[in-house]
Amino acid sequence: MKTRSNLTVPRSMSRRHFLRVLGATGGAAAAIGAMDAWGMMMASAAEAPPVLSGNANGRRVIILGAGLAGMTAAYEMSKLGYETPIFEARDFAGGRCQTARRGFSLTEVTGVTQRCLFDDGQYINHGPWRIPYHHRSTLHYTKEFDVPLEIMVNDNDNAWDYREEEGSPLSGRRIRRRELQADIGGYTSELLAKAADQDALDRELTAEDKEQLLDYLVAFGQLDRDTLSYGGTGGRGYEEDPGAGLRPGVPSDPFAFRDLLQHGAIDGFRAVAGHTQKNTMFEPVGGMDQIARGFEREVGHLIHYEHVVREIRQSDDGVRVVLENATTGETREVEGDYCICTIPLSVLNQIPADFSSEFQAAMQAVTYVSVGKMGLQFARRFWEEDDFIYGGHSTTNVFGNISYPSYGWQGEKGVILGYYNFGGQAVEVSARSPRERVEYALEMGSLLHPEVYRREFETGFSVAWHLVPHNLGGWASWSSEARNDAYPRLNEPDGRVYLAGEHLSYMTGWMSGAIESAWLQIEKIHDQVQARQGHAARQVA
Ligand code: ALA
Repeated sequence: MKTRSNLTVPRSMSRRHFLRVLGATGGAAAAIGAMDAWGMMMASAAEAPPVLSGNANGRRVIILGAGLAGMTAAYEMSKLGYETPIFEARDFAGGRCQTARRGFSLTEVTGVTQRCLFDDGQYINHGPWRIPYHHRSTLHYTKEFDVPLEIMVNDNDNAWDYREEEGSPLSGRRIRRRELQADIGGYTSELLAKAADQDALDRELTAEDKEQLLDYLVAFGQLDRDTLSYGGTGGRGYEEDPGAGLRPGVPSDPFAFRDLLQHGAIDGFRAVAGHTQKNTMFEPVGGMDQIARGFEREVGHLIHYEHVVREIRQSDDGVRVVLENATTGETREVEGDYCICTIPLSVLNQIPADFSSEFQAAMQAVTYVSVGKMGLQFARRFWEEDDFIYGGHSTTNVFGNISYPSYGWQGEKGVILGYYNFGGQAVEVSARSPRERVEYALEMGSLLHPEVYRREFETGFSVAWHLVPHNLGGWASWSSEARNDAYPRLNEPDGRVYLAGEHLSYMTGWMSGAIESAWLQIEKIHDQVQARQGHAARQVA
């Protein structure tokens, strides 16, 4: 290994700036950085549904929405003998747990319809697309319903990073993520190792601590033990790979530290991935909607499709819901003892309902994230064949990331997630026609895969969740103020109506949030029923 150091730190760099770049937040993915900011860092707290005893006492619970929260509630409550009809606005179950494949169509609130034209066997999970290992509630049901899982590759050393930074010599170049990761880890280790070696950390560390820290930094940064210098490492890849016979490989040269700092790439490589982005990640074999199908096998007979909720009324004795048939426009009313309403607040806010004024005010405190995704089918898996990229994400500071499929390895065709955008960017891109969105995705993706991207493109399918009827947003986003004030109120029932869904969790935007919020609410309803039953029994006695 070379021992030459090309560590150069800009003299003008302030301690604060250095700490900032060392801290390295954001970047690697704007998406991943942003997720932490959205408060999606909590692990799944519960791993199995509540164990409930007693019986339903003939009670009827009207469930609004056949997404994962609604189907979880129906599945668990019907085991206890509750009558749990589910009313669903769409003509299919699963809520946002969808997969776009040939034949799938989507009409946005603007009236624009897209039909998915992917080849058979090709698909994009345009809603939820990954399951962290610690989302045990989701994994509880994939196991219970025999939904086979495969690994979702959420990180890939060999994927590209592309940045445009004024003044950076690395600007406008595709760089392998492994190169950046190795160099950034190497140089920062070198800095710290040298500081420790020069006794700069003596106040913090004993002599023994220091030796152990140096051992760690030498291993972490792949430093030369004698000089404590970073001079590159096989971990960043080779100019020429090692092979058989007389081919030891040709090491690659690291980038200069100063160039990396100027390039901004250092921001994209954090020491510790956010909690929801930890390995291992899973996806169901054949598409995320296999989870919805698993639930549907159990509770499908309870679902009334194409029933759009028009009013939610309640009295001291029960709940009455007015529903409109999405095809015929006919209305009907249904009654029950309780209601579990899983309709996203972005939609529920617009439905006339007998909620108390404080409950209604709490419902207004949430915002929903605008989210766009694009699936692009290509005739050839050039990312695997030409670039040796198997899954994971290529990152940019221009438009976000593209993500490669974790299924169909070495097959003929494949579908790339051509963009995954949020907020203002999602709104701006979604204002375009489906064809223009594809054009945008091709232009952006060509930064990472020049020429071949357009050449091999076949067909695209996009979603803009803020424009999807019955959702009007990707997922709920709570400000810390709203978490303190409004959120606890919405976790409690208003009269006989209980809310459930990802929005009633600290895992907003995750299936586990929907499932576990349903678990909480069914327990509350069941406690109510048991308490009333006990009360009635005492009165009779
Ligand atoms: N759960 C969403 C994702 O994985 C936000 O991207």
